Amino acid sequence: MQNNDDDKLIKIDMGTLQSNVAPNKDSVLCLGIESSCDETSAAIVDSNRNVLSHIIYSQIPEHQKYGGVVPELAARAHILAIDTVINQTLQAAGKTINDIDVIAATAGPGLIGGVLVGWLAATGIAQATKKPLVAVNHLEGHALVPRLSATAANGIGAGASVDFPYLLMLASGGHCQILLVRGVGQYELIGQTIDDSAGEAFDKVSKMLGLGYPGGPIVDKRASSGNPKRFNFPRPLCDKPGCDFSFSGIKTAARIMLDKNTQPIDDAFINDFCASFQAAVVDCIINRLNHAMATDVVRAANPKTLVVAGGVAKNSAIRAAMENLADAHNMIFAAPPMNLCTDNGAMIAWAGIENWRIGNIVREPVAPRPRWPLTEL
Ligand code: KG4
Ligand code: ZN
Repeated sequence: MQNNDDDKLIKIDMGTLQSNVAPNKDSVLCLGIESSCDETSAAIVDSNRNVLSHIIYSQIPEHQKYGGVVPELAARAHILAIDTVINQTLQAAGKTINDIDVIAATAGPGLIGGVLVGWLAATGIAQATKKPLVAVNHLEGHALVPRLSATAANGIGAGASVDFPYLLMLASGGHCQILLVRGVGQYELIGQTIDDSAGEAFDKVSKMLGLGYPGGPIVDKRASSGNPKRFNFPRPLCDKPGCDFSFSGIKTAARIMLDKNTQPIDDAFINDFCASFQAAVVDCIINRLNHAMATDVVRAANPKTLVVAGGVAKNSAIRAAMENLADAHNMIFAAPPMNLCTDNGAMIAWAGIENWRIGNIVREPVAPRPRWPLTEL
């Protein structure tokens, strides 16, 4: 069904675009562009893992009054911002487009209007300058960014990198998956949500409480001063074998509790509600990761590092619980710094470099894709 939809998309003629010979330099510069949701972002990253410049234009204020991202408004906002964001990124790095070796942009998955804006900008630049172009899968951007930069107490310090293979908890607004990352473009799905993503659950519970959008950071903050035992949220699938998630039951439980509630909804109520909800999400993530670590495929691969990535990786309780889990399994825990968890251009630039290194550049027309599972890479 989805593939048919994808086939209907117009393929963009790459014209005279060339697969350039690899620049013979110590350090390769990549301009990365991200526009798949509500951030217009660009960054220049080098192959030695330095971020030379990074601009993120967030559209959150434009979508806040609707309680979520409005795709049509997002696409228009990307159109208005894209040139400025790219120019500012070049200026901030003190570079011109001639200094750049590789162009990379998100080609999916995401809101297709936004993806098209960034992808067309990148295509135009690559055609005009005859530089190699990489079509980055947005999820691969999240998945690989810990190799650009990661922090954690037990092992990964500043300057260290995350080596393959690693076990990845990828949790964002649109996705929730456990993946075994064997290499660039090599992802094995171990488990995934059968309904909502974790980010969606945070956003919806925040909306029910009238706390605003995006919900994750607000719920996280409220939870930090709340009692996680006051409300009894379910832990869907946690008593079942396997590694899949389900968050819609937690969300429905929140709705029912609020509908039946007779207590005053004051600050203490909201904090306790957020803390109890968040504790349920954390328990589900840890339970499913434990199951993932026990699977034959993960045991055989023996990953040394447990990684969290995606917007939800900003969550303090999830980071702390995953760090403990890694400790218990003698694994290193790694997470991107906060500004590289939510959508950003640096992760796309880095994925551009990683793909360019293995020769994965655009050689024929590419159709941007609203859906593009990592396992199809
Ligand atoms: O990766 P991302 O920026 O966009 C997608 O690719 O979907 O993730 C955005 C999601 C939103 O659902 C947002 O509420 C969630 O990440 N998020 C958080 C936190 N910060 C952002 N969720 C929980 N705790 C946070 N601190
Ligand atoms: Zn994302």
